[in-house]
Amino acid sequence: MKDPSDLPPLRWPLLEGRRVILTGGAGGIGRATATLFAQMGARVALLDAAATTPQVADGLGRGHLGIVADVADSASCNAAIAEADRAFGGLDVLVTMAGTVHPGGIADVTDDAWRETIDMHLTGTFNACRGAIPALKRNGAGVIVCMSSIAGQRGGGLRGGTHYAAAKAGVIGLVRAMARELAPDGIRANAVAPGAIHTDKRSFADMNAGLAAQIPMGRVGTSEEVARVFLFLASDLASYMTGAVVDVNGGLHIH
Ligand SMILES: NC(=O)c1ccc[n+]([C@@H]2O[C@H](COP(=O)([O-])OP(=O)(O)OC[C@H]3O[C@@H](n4cnc5c(N)ncnc54)[C@H](O)[C@@H]3O)[C@@H](O)[C@H]2O)c1
Repeated sequence: MKDPSDLPPLRWPLLEGRRVILTGGAGGIGRATATLFAQMGARVALLDAAATTPQVADGLGRGHLGIVADVADSASCNAAIAEADRAFGGLDVLVTMAGTVHPGGIADVTDDAWRETIDMHLTGTFNACRGAIPALKRNGAGVIVCMSSIAGQRGGGLRGGTHYAAAKAGVIGLVRAMARELAPDGIRANAVAPGAIHTDKRSFADMNAGLAAQIPMGRVGTSEEVARVFLFLASDLASYMTGAVVDVNGGLHIH
């Protein structure tokens, strides 16, 4: 058993010197997470399909990187990871959150919508993890934190449809398998499952007024509140956590 006194002391800022890849980093929760990680001392490479990704990275300050890439395409994803690895001289943390929510009951989900959603969320997460793991192993330690959703835990029901729920449940299975397989390499893997989260791009104001009433905390969450949980899991605060799925839902799903 590791003696608690063997634990390296916590450093402040919590991610000082850590080299991070963040997929979906130009989006609502992604940008909030990138901003917090940069404030906490990390160098962040944003990997996102949005053409604005380099400008978003510039907005974080000096030393960060914005790479336009498609996580659903393994060649594009691998090339972007290699670019970040080269530029930073290694990688410590991978955060995956690329992808947007898709509604639809099972009868309404077309072949194309199914493939697109699974590709974006599940294959995209797989591509990013498989692509980054060799660099984390080379490093001798590393952290993976993947975005799932309450939809993957309870079967959709907010905005996410059947295909979205299936993809996000798949992310949880992938994270658990990686946690088991990679622990001997010093790599931790955890998932985050948010409920309804307000972003600068997406508000829940259009949803039925009863939504807030269903949430024990009486409100939707913010991107910054999700970003803080990603920070916790990416940092040494969570040094004995792997294979976990952390809820960030104001009590909407207590299980
Ligand atoms: N907002 C919520 O309520 C909520 C709740 C639970 C989970 N989530 C999950 O959080 C993540 C971020 O959500 P958000 O609300 O910030 O969404 P968002 O639409 O603001 O951001 C998503 C980002 O992913 C990028 N992206 C999409 N497909 C991509 C691809 N193939 N390759 C690379 N980049 C791609 C987009 O360009 C965008 O910048 C998603 O995985 C979403 O499913 C969101």
